[in-house]
Amino acid sequence: MKEIVRFGVSLEKELLHKFDSLIGEKRYPNRSEAIRDLIRENLVKREWVKGEKVAGVIALVYDHHKRELVNTLTDIQHHYHSLIISTQHIHLDEDNCLEVVVVRGKPKEVESLADRLKATKGVKHSSLIMTTIGKQI
Ligand code: NI
Repeated sequence: MKEIVRFGVSLEKELLHKFDSLIGEKRYPNRSEAIRDLIRENLVKREWVKGEKVAGVIALVYDHHKRELVNTLTDIQHHYHSLIISTQHIHLDEDNCLEVVVVRGKPKEVESLADRLKATKGVKHSSLIMTTIGKQI
């Protein structure tokens, strides 16, 4: 088990009140857990800027009746096949599909894939969840 270190934090009363209010809304059990999460959040952000390898999830919503669009999305994913760990396709209704693409690789390449998918004409919504492979945090 990793060694736990205690440290003091000084901050304005008003800021602390706001932080406690946020902690309540987010249902953190205590300040320590909330601060740990903020630190990890920032470490993950740094991995996306400076790191070698990251993990992520790209979610796409589109209308599958647009055949050209489906072909384009498939072509793009094949081009970046080395980044893609898995893809899940969910038929949301008669028209709409949700595709979830789980990725791992260099941050710039993952962002490039996410950008290309998002910019494809006909994609209704696309979002990249930037997360970590977990080794640095
Ligand atoms: Ni579908």
